[in-house]
Amino acid sequence: MAPRKIIIDTDPGQDDAVAILMALASPDELEVLGITAVAGNVPLPLTQKNARIVLELAGRTDIPVFAGCDAPMKRPLVTAEHVHGKTGLDGPSLPDPTMPLQDKHGVDFIIETLRSEPPGTVTLCPLGPLTNIATAFATAPDIVDRVQQIVLMGGAYFEVGNITPAAEFNIYVDPEAAAIVFESGIDIVVLPLDVTHKALVTGPRNIAFRALGTPAGEAVAAMTDFFERFDKEKYGSDGAPLHDPCVTAYLLKPELFSGRHINVEIETVSELTLGMTVADWWGITDRAKNATFIGDLDADGFFALLTERLGRL
Ligand code: BDR
Ligand code: CA
Repeated sequence: MAPRKIIIDTDPGQDDAVAILMALASPDELEVLGITAVAGNVPLPLTQKNARIVLELAGRTDIPVFAGCDAPMKRPLVTAEHVHGKTGLDGPSLPDPTMPLQDKHGVDFIIETLRSEPPGTVTLCPLGPLTNIATAFATAPDIVDRVQQIVLMGGAYFEVGNITPAAEFNIYVDPEAAAIVFESGIDIVVLPLDVTHKALVTGPRNIAFRALGTPAGEAVAAMTDFFERFDKEKYGSDGAPLHDPCVTAYLLKPELFSGRHINVEIETVSELTLGMTVADWWGITDRAKNATFIGDLDADGFFALLTERLGRL
């Protein structure tokens, strides 16, 4: 079977970087048409640069990187240096990229790609705030029906929030964009904190990355070494949660995950709960189901897959 065509929309971020590396290591299943950077964990000049650093680490300078939106649709940008460090990719020591940034805007790339590829053949994989995706839909509503699926990291139900008591970072940063995406009618799969907080890089899992003995394995171990300190301190968890790689793993092996097809609405008004993903997990309302909301994963299976794929780079 031909590999599935994807666009990775991202704000790297150590966990974004691991998600990208995992996709690049899986060319039989996934064809990465391009990477669109968005402002999120750190400002856009850093996220687009980090995307290129990651591609160079993987030796995949043939994949184009586009800079997208530098701020949310209606709000000032909120960043997460307290989690990801000043560069967004703190931890490993990686060279500045030499591959070029494309001239085209990331939103235009998304629009043009969806218009030029056959309908229903391109999957969008957002790993950051949904600004680029929603801006593309608002600018070119004709592309919405052409999207095969959206598989995104964002939101939470049982875990509630990580940037406020009520909201997960990616949705909180641009709730208006998230609302557009969740109301789009597209087949959406959501990898929320409920599942990503179970994908923890424990000590032995980190050792397994390093033991690959490759630049990618070493870099991922150094990234997760850095990235774990926030969650260990805050949640007392066993290691860094690999949020965004859950998206790639879902594309490769959906059988590792389980969830429910439910209604998910985005809070865009309340100051107290802004960006909350109000997930009708228990089917309390009769609001239309609009997303497959993942709740659990086979963590050992996930790390076996990830480590095996990283070993291919
Ligand atoms: C999400 O926010 C970012 O900090 C991570 O890269 C991930 O996409 C987790 O809430
Ligand atoms: Ca991210």
